[in-house]
Amino acid sequence: MTAFPVTRLRRLRRTETLRALVRETRLSLDDVVMPLFACPGEGVVRPLAGLDGIAQRSIDELVRECGELAALGVRAVLLFGIPEEKDELGSGAWDANGIVQRALRAVRAEVPGLTLVTDVCLCEYTSHGHCGIVRDGEVANDETVELLARTAASHVEAGADVVAPSDMMDGRVGAIREALPQTPLIAYAAKYASAFYGPFREVAESAPAFGDRRGYQMDPPNVREALRECALDLEEGADALMVKPALPYLDVIRAVRERFDCPVAAYNVSGEYAMVKAAAAAGHLDERAAALESLVAIRRAGADLIFTYWAKDLARWL
Ligand code: PBG
Repeated sequence: MTAFPVTRLRRLRRTETLRALVRETRLSLDDVVMPLFACPGEGVVRPLAGLDGIAQRSIDELVRECGELAALGVRAVLLFGIPEEKDELGSGAWDANGIVQRALRAVRAEVPGLTLVTDVCLCEYTSHGHCGIVRDGEVANDETVELLARTAASHVEAGADVVAPSDMMDGRVGAIREALPQTPLIAYAAKYASAFYGPFREVAESAPAFGDRRGYQMDPPNVREALRECALDLEEGADALMVKPALPYLDVIRAVRERFDCPVAAYNVSGEYAMVKAAAAAGHLDERAAALESLVAIRRAGADLIFTYWAKDLARWL
């Protein structure tokens, strides 16, 4: 006769209460940040086809959205700007009256409790769409770093609580830290040159006009290099490290978690969101279940906080 198993893991799976009692990973509104896009105009809400939840919003509409998010219990947003005009240097990025700076002042005044994180990069502001100044067909690192520090300082001046440099220039965290000794900084430390940013580039109007970002963003096959990026960003004064994208890079999140004791963030990017939206719209899967499973997987891999377009839905789902 075969012995009956003494250990039966199904015993603790029998009811939802038992499952909840032994659940190892949880999702909470405390751990999510909602990305938002500010654009010129008034009364503008310009959604992207097939990506409900992601839209360009004029500042009045952005303020309204932030009010809704705060009322639902979302505690932090990540702001991007789409400027009226772009130029070679991306000078709209550090303009005291630029789109993000004006959005910051408006949201700060109207929704004071919300924590405002800004994405620090030049790609939405440059006419060529690259993340820095282009010299002889290449992004010039050190000149760009100075402009990024100016940009971050102008965000804080306008009311940003946290800055998040996403450009992947060498040394930018150090330059921003020197300019802003008191500001929390979440570094996009391991940011890969990913195909999953496609929908974002449509909404942010930031696709490079020539070439691609592989000369500054990371090569997808590498993980040891991600750890070197993280170590440098911490040395330069980062408070938290981000891995981006999230779902195709869960191993990187895990590796960063195991190596470093600082908070680890992950960016569940536009393409990850778009895939689920498209499959759900076609009736192939349940959006809520797939989104919750994705987000919990990112937390289980080791992320403390998640930047996600599902933040608002999560507020309703939890
Ligand atoms: C700016 C930036 C990008 C994203 C966040 N910050 C685009 C890029 O690097 O091309 C992507 C976010 C997303 O896909 O949701 N550099």
